[in-house]
Amino acid sequence: MNNSPSDQDKRRTFCKVCIGGFTVASAGAVTYPVVTFMGQPVHFSANKPLEVPLEELTVGQAHYAEFQGQQIILLMTEKGPVVLKASCPHLGCNVIWNAADSIFHCPCHGAVFDDSGAVVSGPVSKELAQLPFEIKDGKLIVT
Ligand code: FES
Repeated sequence: MNNSPSDQDKRRTFCKVCIGGFTVASAGAVTYPVVTFMGQPVHFSANKPLEVPLEELTVGQAHYAEFQGQQIILLMTEKGPVVLKASCPHLGCNVIWNAADSIFHCPCHGAVFDDSGAVVSGPVSKELAQLPFEIKDGKLIVT
């Protein structure tokens, strides 16, 4: 069998492409589930005061947003709007809204919070942090 340098170069290139493709596929296979597990889609993003028209907030539906570098949750409850940090006060995982039960669930260690952010159960004693907001001109404004 004659192995010319060009055949060896082709094999090396082929191996590099295979290894690179495998590396990218592996990184995606690991990263995607972690990202989808840790949080829900971002609907709004702002570094200034975050303004959301009230008509975009449906009762019982949580909206996740990035605000000043942190994940927050805008939730319209039967009692009115609530704005919370998404970060669980236990070890910082982002909580997930369960609309069917009207609770926030932490996927990391099972903490449960009600729709105001108060602790229902789990290894945590602090409630979800609330953020100040105002209602003006039909908009919810997080400052
Ligand atoms: S990080 Fe939420 S319960 Fe541990």
